[in-house]
Amino acid sequence: MAYTQDELKQQVAKAAVEYVKSGIIGVGTGSTANFFIEELAKVKHKIDGAVASSEATAARLRGHGIEVFDLNSVDSLDIYVDGADEITEHMHMLKGGGGALTREKIVAAVAKQFICICDSTKQVDLLGKFPLPIEVIPMAWAQIKRELEKLGGQVNLRLKKDGSEQALVTDNQGWILDVSGLQIKNPAELESTINQIPGVICNGIFARRKADILLVGSSEGVKRLVY
Ligand code: A5P
Repeated sequence: MAYTQDELKQQVAKAAVEYVKSGIIGVGTGSTANFFIEELAKVKHKIDGAVASSEATAARLRGHGIEVFDLNSVDSLDIYVDGADEITEHMHMLKGGGGALTREKIVAAVAKQFICICDSTKQVDLLGKFPLPIEVIPMAWAQIKRELEKLGGQVNLRLKKDGSEQALVTDNQGWILDVSGLQIKNPAELESTINQIPGVICNGIFARRKADILLVGSSEGVKRLVY
């Protein structure tokens, strides 16, 4: 039987909620994470609350009556659950399609386990087909664009979807550059290299803090990979 992409996302969201035991849960951003929030709401009696990786996720959690904690009030998180735009067999990810990469990376850094939930279309041999999102300080974007072009990328400033031709502004008041044409053979090295460009807030390569558990939705059921 063929499943829709939404059904596969719901399938992995249900599988991920089995890892929810108690305490405070780190919650990601995006359409797959939204399915996870729906499932988390069903077991909210088991937990104290959640830390959100974006304002959108925080609003959605609160809408389900789940308390949202400030990350600074939390020493550690057992799990962080989030989707990805691409993931390799080494659990390196490319993230930020939803623009929340910086907070996602921060919350993931606090968690003992990163549980990545996705469907099989996100599994790749090499990162970089999906344009790499980079959050930047707005006054630096043109200079950062030139530096990224030296690395072989084609750079586009992400715009609001309202047709206004204005830059999309993130939860951190940053802008997003989407970089295509990169073949990311050494993700950890490129992650560090891009972070060294002045004005870069964060980039969407998650190699230094990669996923620990990958749950992939498929027509044969959820596949679980542990690295
Ligand atoms: C949000 O900024 C992203 O990192 C998402 O985790 C990623 O884009 C996956 O989103 P979907 O679950 O909507 O595909």
